[in-house]
Amino acid sequence: MTDNASNTPKANGQGQAMWGGRFSAKPAELMQAINVSIGFDKRLWAQDLAGSRAHARMLMNQGVISSHDGDEILEGLARVEDELLSGTFPFRDEYEDIHMNIEARLRELIGPTAGRLHTARSRNDQVAVDFRLWVRDACDRTVGQLEALQKALLAQAEAYADALMPGFTHLQPAQPVTFGHHLMAYVEMFGRDAGRFRDARARMNECPLGAAALAGSPFPIDRQQTATALGFDRPTANSLDSVSSRDFALEALSAASITATHLSRLAEEIVLWTTPMFGFIKLTDAFTTGSSIMPQKKNPDAAELVRAKVGRILGSLTTLTVVMKGLPLAYSKDMQEDKVPTFEAFDALELSLLAMAGMIADLTPNTETMAKAAGAGFSTATDLADWLVRTLNMPFRDAHHVTGSAVKTAEGLGVDLADLSLEQFQAIEPQITNAVYAVLTPAASAASRMSYGGTAPAQVRAQIARWKEQLA
Ligand code: ARG
Repeated sequence: MTDNASNTPKANGQGQAMWGGRFSAKPAELMQAINVSIGFDKRLWAQDLAGSRAHARMLMNQGVISSHDGDEILEGLARVEDELLSGTFPFRDEYEDIHMNIEARLRELIGPTAGRLHTARSRNDQVAVDFRLWVRDACDRTVGQLEALQKALLAQAEAYADALMPGFTHLQPAQPVTFGHHLMAYVEMFGRDAGRFRDARARMNECPLGAAALAGSPFPIDRQQTATALGFDRPTANSLDSVSSRDFALEALSAASITATHLSRLAEEIVLWTTPMFGFIKLTDAFTTGSSIMPQKKNPDAAELVRAKVGRILGSLTTLTVVMKGLPLAYSKDMQEDKVPTFEAFDALELSLLAMAGMIADLTPNTETMAKAAGAGFSTATDLADWLVRTLNMPFRDAHHVTGSAVKTAEGLGVDLADLSLEQFQAIEPQITNAVYAVLTPAASAASRMSYGGTAPAQVRAQIARWKEQLA
């Protein structure tokens, strides 16, 4: 292997680390402990094999290695793959990382020809391409999981497109909305999240393979060939940048953090809605747990954990940002610290997205409780003010004042606005007529909000139809 580090344990084909005699055993053990990455970068084995195959084929096509040697390498890599798939591959700490583990095993299987695979390649561009492929796959998977969650939301939104619930600002009842409308707000958020992963993917889809250690290669390699073979749009254009950039991962982690933030908001609402005080929705036993001491309890643990996962995911973005900050070009071993936070963040995100889709499909709204709450807290006060403006041509500020007086009267009597008599309304504003009652119900309030994107069930259904077509 032709890496630039001189003090790392090197594979010599016999499975021994080659340490200089001047090193005592103890620091060597510590060196291995801090240096070894196979424990986590084994997750890159499929990407590493794909990169090696593309590289070997290109070397053959370009005549850098003979087709005899190339075939032998490809056959050997197939055997390595069989071992990895069947779980018999010997992962060994003394070979440090996934790249050297696979190459060492290839050498055991096919002999010294294995050494030709690393022609015109370094672990620096090797890990850069492996990790890029992994993050690209993770972005693609996440888009699929986001779309599955959107579909679960759409199904519930369609079923409850006109189920009334209170809309909140400051978590105070504000104006009636529908449950379908509320769920569709998250369909929009998750749609933008999917867009961010697609954007990140498009930007990261350049192939760093062939940058070699940092400066490029003197061999007549064809970088377009390997880029195409690995599904990249083109090769990266600067060899230093190729081996030292991890902003593709930072961007994916940023998208993951925003998604996790959205998930935590929905999770928080599920936690609130399932409390007996709200009683808006029920989750089945599938997504709740009991208490070991309080027999009456049914806890929304899954929602709480989704609410919490954003900590881990945003933490990963912070970790990698700090790792990359101030790193001189080109590759530094610091960058080995890119994998654990990225793997951890996407594991947490995947679990959160799946659990959230499960909870959304699982929940049953308590439509009566929600509808009752929709009318509480003088939630149609704005409708009264709007009626005064529309019907009596009152300036909105005056209408706001009249409505405030009506709310004050109703509050004093302990009744809703719709319970005030016409006489009581006329004592506040003599021009008010019986027609006012038509706008004071939550259903009328919601149905009247026909502006594009508004909560009127007809508008909600139009948005559901648009999304269904888009996700079909
Ligand atoms: N395990 C290393 C990493 O993940 C691979 C690259 C090592 N390169 C080197 N020059 N030591 O970053």
